[in-house]
Amino acid sequence: MSNAPGTTEEDAEYKKICENHKHLIETLPKCNGWWTPHLHNYNGFWLTPDILKANLLLHTYFKSHPTDIFLASFMKSGTTWLKALVFSTLNRDSYTFSDHYLHKHNPHSAFSPLDAETYPITDFTNSLTPRLFSTHFARTMLPACMSSCKFVYVCRDPKDVLISLWHFMNKIRSKDVPPLSLDEAFELFCLGVSDYGPFWEQVLSYWRASLEYPDKILFLKYEDMKKEPEVVVRKLAAFVGKPVTVEEEEKGVVREIVKLCSFENLSNLEVNKEGFEKFGRLVNIEKREFFRKGVIGDWKNYLTKEMKERIDGITAQKFKGSGLVFTATG
Ligand code: A3P
Repeated sequence: MSNAPGTTEEDAEYKKICENHKHLIETLPKCNGWWTPHLHNYNGFWLTPDILKANLLLHTYFKSHPTDIFLASFMKSGTTWLKALVFSTLNRDSYTFSDHYLHKHNPHSAFSPLDAETYPITDFTNSLTPRLFSTHFARTMLPACMSSCKFVYVCRDPKDVLISLWHFMNKIRSKDVPPLSLDEAFELFCLGVSDYGPFWEQVLSYWRASLEYPDKILFLKYEDMKKEPEVVVRKLAAFVGKPVTVEEEEKGVVREIVKLCSFENLSNLEVNKEGFEKFGRLVNIEKREFFRKGVIGDWKNYLTKEMKERIDGITAQKFKGSGLVFTATG
């Protein structure tokens, strides 16, 4: 990844991106955003102008390493939890469970966010190996150089994603504008208009890639993580090339990882209750907003029967023939 501006070539490249960006923004379809004034549709996906620019920067500057690990998700699908699980599984030899990195740091801090970069792009050359990155971009929006890297993807029942997203967006939305009503959020979500959406197309981009490259993309579901977290940890360990040993099983390492990363544990740590987490140089979010209820099926407290049926209908229609099914959550 390029280090800093300075060379004439780099500056010229950056100017080109700025021009492209300006031109793109003018020509792209736009809609009202959930927390920003607008979202723009680029290559089939809705992005804020800044995130769109970050995508353009990524294509120009990002150089992947074969050992890189990417954590991808749709917003509010369990990213924070999966970050904690991947990090603690991968680094289980480096920390004890009584004095762990995650006791002092929010799980997001262990990953470099690709979607919030500005120029000059952060230099990742000194990052530890494997380098850990996170993204909400659809698979089809990522540079081709990443196809040789490993991806862990998590998806979640869209009804729970919608409710989680609606709560979250109203927290980060400017207080100068009225809150987004659930009816508005529902309508936008169903139309596919939300940051990084449409939800269904974003999920399918990773699902299809996981079928084509099963050794490169581990496709997980939030609901399975809730029901059988230990199974997921073993899968993760094998996927990152550090399968759980018999000795570790006997010592209860898998159970310790699950306990460390549980909603109850993480959400009660001081480090996750106070302060802000910075994503690149663009986004700053209160850490406590990443933990709300952490359950399956909270949508039942918000959606009417008609709303449920409409979302389930869209899901059935979009996923038809793909082989992807969601565990029923009611
Ligand atoms: P709810 O709003 O339904 O509670 P993301 O990390 O992708 O932003 O997703 C946030 C959602 O994951 C929120 O869902 C949050 O409460 C939940 N979550 C965060 N940490 C979790 C954990 N350790 N276990 C289970 N769910 C968790």
